[in-house]
Amino acid sequence: MRIDLEEAVFRLKKGEVVALPTETVYGLAATLTSKEGIRRIFELKGRPQDNPLIIHLHQTSDLEPYVSFFPEKVDLLTKALWPGPLTLVLPIKEEVIPPEVTAHLATGAFRVPKHSLVQKVLKETGPLVMPSANLSGRPSATSASHVEADFGASFPVLDGGSSRQGVESTILYFDKECWKILRLGAISRERIFEVLQVASPIYQGKAISPGQKYRHYAPKAILHLSKVIPDDAKAVIGFEDRSYPRFATFFSLGESHNPKQALHCLYDVLRRLDQDQVKEAWVDIAISEEGLFETLLERLHKACGDKMSVC
Ligand code: TXA
Ligand code: MG
Repeated sequence: MRIDLEEAVFRLKKGEVVALPTETVYGLAATLTSKEGIRRIFELKGRPQDNPLIIHLHQTSDLEPYVSFFPEKVDLLTKALWPGPLTLVLPIKEEVIPPEVTAHLATGAFRVPKHSLVQKVLKETGPLVMPSANLSGRPSATSASHVEADFGASFPVLDGGSSRQGVESTILYFDKECWKILRLGAISRERIFEVLQVASPIYQGKAISPGQKYRHYAPKAILHLSKVIPDDAKAVIGFEDRSYPRFATFFSLGESHNPKQALHCLYDVLRRLDQDQVKEAWVDIAISEEGLFETLLERLHKACGDKMSVC
C-alpha cells in the first residue's frame, strides 16, 4: 500500500514499521526509540536476532550523542561521502542505543542517506533503524513493488521510484589502525582510496557481526558464473552490447562497460528469475574486476551461495 510522506512520519512516530526508499535499496524503518517497531522489523524479515541493524541519521552532527570514540580520518569519510551510500561501524555509548539494534555489540553501524524523501522523514522522526526491505536471504528491494512482493500488498511503503544505486551501502570498520571494508557496496574501493589516500583491505578476520555469516541475495535458480556462455544455455544474464545463444531467455544488466547500470538492474533481474520460475541461468562475467565491477562480482558470487558453480 503506497503511503505519502506525512503518513510515513505519522506511523513511524507511533512506533510502527514502514518501508522507505533510499538511494541504495529500500529499507524497513522504525525509530531508534520504538522497542515494538524494532522487534517487529526482526519478525517481519525473519531476521536472526544476532544480526544488527544500521542506524540512519539526518546529518553527520547527529552522530555525536551515540559514538564513544571517533577513529582517525572519520571526518574525511563523512565530509566526502555523507550524505551517501557509506556505512561506518563505530564504537558506541552503549547506554544510549537499545542492545537489540546492535545485537549487544560494543559498536554500531551508522549512515546518513541521500535520498530526498528519506532525508525529509529523518528530519521529522530522528534516527531510524533500517535494514534492507526484503525477507532475510532474498534479494534486496529496489522498488516499492519489490517490497510489496515480499511483505504483501497492504504493507505501507513510501514510493520513491526505483533506487538509484540498486545495491547496498559500502560498510567500513576501523580495525588495527586502518579502515577495512566489511561489505563492498555502492562506493568502490577506489573511491575510498581517493578519500583516505591509503588502501582499505577487505576485512578478513573473524566475523565481527554475526550477520556476516548469513547467506544473502539468493534467487531460487542455480546460477553459473562464466566467461563463456554455452550454446545450450536456456537463460542468460548478460549485457546488451553482446550476443548470446539465440534461443536463450535474456536478462539484461545493461551495457558491459557500465557497472553502475548493472548494479542498478541486478536485484530486479534476480527477482525476475524467481518470478519466471527460471531453474538455471548462466551469468556472463567476462567483465573488469575493478571499481564497482568488484561489487557486482561479489554480489553475483553471493547470489550463487552454496549452489555456486564458477567456470
Ligand atoms: O544501503 C544500505 O545499507 C541499506 C539501506 C536500507 O540503508 N541497509 C542495509 O541494511 O543494507 P542490512 O541490515 O540489510 O545490512 C546491514 C549490515 C548487516 O550485514 C549487519 O550485519 C551489518 O550491516 N552491521 C550492522 N551493525 C553492525 C556492527 N555493529 N558491526 C558490524 N556489522 C554490522
Ligand atoms: Mg540486507
